[in-house]
Amino acid sequence: MASEPRASRAIEVEINGERYEREVPARRLLVHFLRDDLDLTGTHIGCDTGNCGACTVLLDGDPVKSCMLLAVQADGASLRTIEGLAPNGELTPLQRSFNEHHALQCGYCTPGMLMSATALLERTSSPSEEDVRYALQGNICRCTGYVNIVEAVVAVGEGTSGG
Ligand code: FES
Ligand code: FES
Repeated sequence: MASEPRASRAIEVEINGERYEREVPARRLLVHFLRDDLDLTGTHIGCDTGNCGACTVLLDGDPVKSCMLLAVQADGASLRTIEGLAPNGELTPLQRSFNEHHALQCGYCTPGMLMSATALLERTSSPSEEDVRYALQGNICRCTGYVNIVEAVVAVGEGTSGG
C-alpha cells in the first residue's frame, strides 16, 4: 500500500548568513516561506507563475524563481535574498548604480533584477550589454524599458558607476 505523503517536513536553510530550522507544509512555496514565515518581504510576488522574476532569489549562488520552488526543495541550501545585499544599510555598487542610472520607477521588479544581476556580476565581472540582457531575460519590468537597468549593470562591470 502506498504511504501517505507527509503533510509537513523539517527543513534547515541558511538565508543571508543566518541559519533557520523550520517545520514547513510540504506544499509551501519558497516565496511564501520567505515572505510569510520569515517576514523577508523584499522578495516580491508578481505573477506566481514563473514569468515575471520579481521573486528571484539566489540558491547556492544561482538565481531561481522562488514561486516555482517548494520550501522543502531549499532544505540544506544557502539562500540570498534582497535583504542580504545591504545588511547594514550600506548599498552594494550595483544598488548604487541602479540609483545613479535611474534604473527603477515603481521598484516592484527591482529586488528580482538586483538578485539576477548580482549573480551575473559574481560570475562575470565585466559583462557586456548582451550578457546583461541574457541574464535578465527572466525578469520583467513594466516601467523602465530596460535600457537604464542594462546600463546600470554594465557600468558596475566597467567600474564607471556605483563605486
Ligand atoms: Fe515568481 Fe513572477 S512571482 S516569477
Ligand atoms: Fe516598475 Fe520595474 S520599475 S516594474
